[in-house]
Amino acid sequence: MKVAKKSDVVEGKPFCAMMGGTKIAIFKVGAGYYAVDNACTHRSGPLCKGKLDGEVVECPWHGSKFNVKTGAVVGGPATKPVKQYKVRVVGEDIEVE
Ligand code: FES
Repeated sequence: MKVAKKSDVVEGKPFCAMMGGTKIAIFKVGAGYYAVDNACTHRSGPLCKGKLDGEVVECPWHGSKFNVKTGAVVGGPATKPVKQYKVRVVGEDIEVE
């Protein structure tokens, strides 16, 4: 499903997108694009409004940190990984599975 254009997503800044009825967060890290559920697994804070540092996004609510390439927790209070989606680039479009 197409969720954004490459030009929408800039390095270092999370992008908020919709995939069907689900809010997701898109990230550009180097040459790659990555997508995870927008809702933080702690209390559903919006990860697409968080801070991106390299490949780690920090939840704006209580500071949990997730690796955007894997969804893994790298800093609490969250303990569960966030769902991560497969991304592919087709021309100028970013598509998420
Ligand atoms: S909701 Fe994300 S750290 Fe609490």
